Amino acid sequence: MKTLSIVSTKGGVGKTTLAVHIAVAAQKAKQKTLVIDLDPQGSAAQWAKDRVRLAEQHGRWFDTPLDVRRLFANDLVEEIAAAKRQGYQLVIIDTPPHADFPAARAVEVADLVLMPVRPGYFDLHAAKATINLVHDMRAHAFFVVNQTPHTSPGMAADAASYLASKDITPAPVSITMLQPYVRALRDGLTAPEIAPEGRSAEEINALWSWLAQALINAPQKKVVEAAPEPAPAMLDDPFARLRRPIIEGAA
Ligand SMILES: Nc1ncnc2c1ncn2[C@@H]1O[C@H](COP(=O)(O)OP(=O)(O)O)[C@@H](O)[C@H]1O
Ligand SMILES: [Mg+2]
Repeated sequence: MKTLSIVSTKGGVGKTTLAVHIAVAAQKAKQKTLVIDLDPQGSAAQWAKDRVRLAEQHGRWFDTPLDVRRLFANDLVEEIAAAKRQGYQLVIIDTPPHADFPAARAVEVADLVLMPVRPGYFDLHAAKATINLVHDMRAHAFFVVNQTPHTSPGMAADAASYLASKDITPAPVSITMLQPYVRALRDGLTAPEIAPEGRSAEEINALWSWLAQALINAPQKKVVEAAPEPAPAMLDDPFARLRRPIIEGAA
């Protein structure tokens, strides 16, 4: 089983959009997939419910509902172990913004971390916090530029070279700002399901093909050394609570 965490301490960059798009693409590739929703807003979980409700309402055919579980970050390790026992092949963790502890926990358990980043100046500047997080935790991390205006494709390349200069490897695919990504979710679907011949489908297929291989190639996770429970005074340090054993590597 492999674990993919989608992390950015900035909101609105497309974490949830990419989480459900990648999850559905993985399912279509016959990977038994679970999404863990760490965001108290529960957007991914709500979308999964709507997917079932709207499919029934419209008598619509679709292959499988998406399994999404809402969770507190403290329960992540146990839930990942449970998912492995339950035969899931891929766990995708969608994380909240501005939440050091859940983001750090998600980075810690991930075989691969994907950081969506919008290509604007302020967005790139704000990505520093996430970059520091993945560097501090020595995560196997990649960024993916999302919401590139289709009229300015050069922005994705500019953003990629800026981020590469911060020692984060780019995903070989960038995601354009396109209507189907928004419209599809409203209908309980993903962009390739409403526009299978469209550019969004091409992008998601390319992103999934790359990710599937990158997850296979991801380095084996090491078990973190056990450490005593942190003293209460340490609780302000988001990493202090993480220094205890984590799950073993992916099988
Ligand atoms: N590639 C895209 N094209 C168009 N709209 C997008 C794209 N990615 C995300 N969005 C829109 O941007 C907003 C924020 O996306 P969301 O996935 O909720 O971000 P996050 O989970 O990081 O807060 C949503 O309204 C979503 O529909
Ligand atoms: Mg979200």
